[in-house]
Amino acid sequence: MTTRREILTRSAAVIGAASSGLLLPQMAMAQSDKVRVGFMLPYTGTFAQLGVAIENGFRMALNEQGGKLGGREVEFFKVDDESNPAKGIENANRLVQRDKVDVLVGTVHSGVQMGIHKVARDSGVLSLIPNAGVHVATRAQCSPNVFRTSFTNSQPTLALGKAMVDRGHKKAVWITWNYAAGEEAFEGFEQSYTAAGGTIVKKLGLPFPNVEFQALLTEIASLKPDAVACFFAGGGAAKFLRDFHAAGLSKNIQLYGSGFLTEGVLEAAGPAADGVLTTMHYSDALDTPRNKKFRLDYAKTFKAQPDVYAVQGYDTGLLLIKGANAVKGDLSNKKALYAAMEGATIDSPRGQWTMSKAHNPIQDMYLRKVENKENKVIGIAQKAVADPATGCRMG
Ligand code: PHB
Repeated sequence: MTTRREILTRSAAVIGAASSGLLLPQMAMAQSDKVRVGFMLPYTGTFAQLGVAIENGFRMALNEQGGKLGGREVEFFKVDDESNPAKGIENANRLVQRDKVDVLVGTVHSGVQMGIHKVARDSGVLSLIPNAGVHVATRAQCSPNVFRTSFTNSQPTLALGKAMVDRGHKKAVWITWNYAAGEEAFEGFEQSYTAAGGTIVKKLGLPFPNVEFQALLTEIASLKPDAVACFFAGGGAAKFLRDFHAAGLSKNIQLYGSGFLTEGVLEAAGPAADGVLTTMHYSDALDTPRNKKFRLDYAKTFKAQPDVYAVQGYDTGLLLIKGANAVKGDLSNKKALYAAMEGATIDSPRGQWTMSKAHNPIQDMYLRKVENKENKVIGIAQKAVADPATGCRMG
């Protein structure tokens, strides 16, 4: 017969062994048999729809695998980052320290991403960036545990300048929100537009996420450029398209943008978006079996049309699946996990892409034109665009 005293003694021995690390492998597996995935995304504010599309896309990729990662069940945790950079670190820590996530998927806003990036670099948690294009994350502060599945802010605009000059639009005004994404989109625009022989007449801006465009539109009217190029996204982009049109500017001035301008907003913008030209790594209208199947499945599942954000979320899922399968679900095997993700070719609805050494997609940029509430593909503006990854030393 086992006495109460023996049970107590045995339990004490087990606790002792555990705290000295002897039983840790079994206990760790038992405790964490589900992979813990944290979404840190905007679910309120001007980027709310973008966050939802990313989460939908990510879940869709996992559901295609029976909802598992490397054979393990998945448990989700969520934080609304409100696109508020001031709360970036605190919100990332809620997922990393409180919820002990294995993987942090986030976010949309470049300023908030810097908070996630600090927490990822300090903690070593696997960080997957499904949108925010802030340069430094895959340039001077690139990290082995940080992978981006979207773009750098200057990638789409690096393909924009030549397309504008090719259409005879040699005098342009630039307008954006004054924060990292707008500034860095300008960097790509300035480089490509001036190299092609274009002149930037004026650079205009307003604080994020303001949408009081009137005074700036009046200034554009008086400057009389051939074209306006811009970076706006989400709810703010829909408002900019409507205000630009309502001010009568679309009659004489061709509007161009980094493609986010016309993503997920074509219903809200209506005819105001017709004829707008943008460069982007995706188009609804890509005529491939892969894209058509993706769009059909997404629409059936979520009763909504997918956009570039949904694709980026989906590709984030595809990348993690590749990594998790390679290590049979053991995400603590970081060397093999990262190697599999670095070497992955992602069979995306946008077309196949590979990871650069700095962990950012190398991808084609399409030139698109809005027609009947769709981003029609006019052609490939630039093939295999890679970010320069300036200052990245992976180590
Ligand atoms: C960003 O802040 O990096 C950002 C936000 C929205 C976009 C693209 C980039 O559509």
